[in-house]
Amino acid sequence: MNDELINGFKNIRMVDNFYQTSSFFPMPTTLIATLDEKGETNLGAYSLVFPYYIAGKDYYAMVLCCRNSSNTCKNILRTKKCAINFIPADKKYFKEAVRLGYPGETTEEKMKDCLFTLVDGKRAKENSENKYPKIIKEAFQVFECTWVDTLDNAQDDKVMDEYKGPYHDFNGITSEFGAHFILKIDNILLKPKQYDAVLNGVKSSSFPDVPVDYGYRDNKNFWYTKQKKAKSEPIPKSKGISLDTVKYAASRIDETVKFTDDACAKLVKVPRVFLNTVLKGCVSWAKENNVTLITEKEMQIIQDKRSKEKKK
Ligand SMILES: Cc1cc2nc3c(=O)[nH]c(=O)nc-3n(C[C@H](O)[C@H](O)[C@H](O)COP(=O)(O)O)c2cc1C
Repeated sequence: MNDELINGFKNIRMVDNFYQTSSFFPMPTTLIATLDEKGETNLGAYSLVFPYYIAGKDYYAMVLCCRNSSNTCKNILRTKKCAINFIPADKKYFKEAVRLGYPGETTEEKMKDCLFTLVDGKRAKENSENKYPKIIKEAFQVFECTWVDTLDNAQDDKVMDEYKGPYHDFNGITSEFGAHFILKIDNILLKPKQYDAVLNGVKSSSFPDVPVDYGYRDNKNFWYTKQKKAKSEPIPKSKGISLDTVKYAASRIDETVKFTDDACAKLVKVPRVFLNTVLKGCVSWAKENNVTLITEKEMQIIQDKRSKEKKK
C-alpha cells in the first residue's frame, strides 16, 4: 500500500513529532531567553514559535510549543516573561543553538561558556524594579513577550515533576510531555538596518540572513539552510473591481454617510474581500469628523491618515 504513488506522491506514516520525523517543515531558528530561579538568563533553542494573534485583538501574540520539562517551560510558568531572539545564519551560531538545544542541562551548565552576548532589552531599560530576561546582542530581531496565562484558564498551572492531567487544549500544560504558551508581544526590537528598511523601503540587501530550520532531523543531526539572497516576487496586480461594484457597496454601507463617484473611484484597486471593511473604516472616520458626504478630498485625507498610521 505504501509503495503506491498517488499522482506522484507517496503517503508517509505519521508518527510523533511528524514535522521532524515525517516531513521537511521550514521553520525559524530562535533562542528563547527566560529567567531561572536565581534570576539568571537561560537560552533554549526553539523553532516551533509562530504568530498567533496577528490582528483584531487587543494585543499581538505568538504561540510556542515546548517540552514541559524544559527550563524554558518551567521559567515561563514561574515568571511569565521571555524574549524570542532570532539569530542570523552563521555556522557558529547554529552550532551554539544546537548546543543550547541539548536537553537536561541546568542554566548554569549551559550558559557558562555561552557564545552570545547578553544585554538588557527595552523592558529592563524602562523598568529597573522588575527583572527581565536579557536579550541576545547578535540577534537581528527580538520579540519581548509575556505569557497570557488566563487564556484556556491556565493561570493555576505550576511547575511539577510530572504532569498527570487534566490538560489544557491550547495554553499552559497541554499533555503529559507538552506545553503551549500564547505569548503577548510587548516589544519588537529590530537592528537599525532592518528598522530603516521597514520604514523607508526594503532592498534585497536589507533582509537579514536567516537560518531556516528544516524540521526534519534524525538522531545524529539537526539540518538548516542559510538563505543566500532575498528574492522579490511582485504581488499580483489587483484584478480591480468595477466602479459600479464600489458605488453599489458604498451606497448600502450606511444610512447617513454617502460617497461621491470620485471618492468611489479611489477604491477600485481594493481587493473585493476587503471592500466592506475599507468602506466601514471610511464611515467611522466620517462620523468622528461630522462628515456626511465623502468626496475625493475626504477620501484622500482618510488614505493619508491610514498610510501615516501604517508608517508609525
Ligand atoms: C534548532 C532547534 C530547534 C528546537 N526547537 C524546539 C521547539 O520548537 N520546541 C521544543 O520543545 N524543543 C525544541 N528544541 C529542543 C530544545 O532546545 C531542548 O528541549 C532544550 O533542552 C531546551 O532548552 P531549555 O531546557 O533550556 O529550555 C529545539 C532544538 C534545536 C537545536
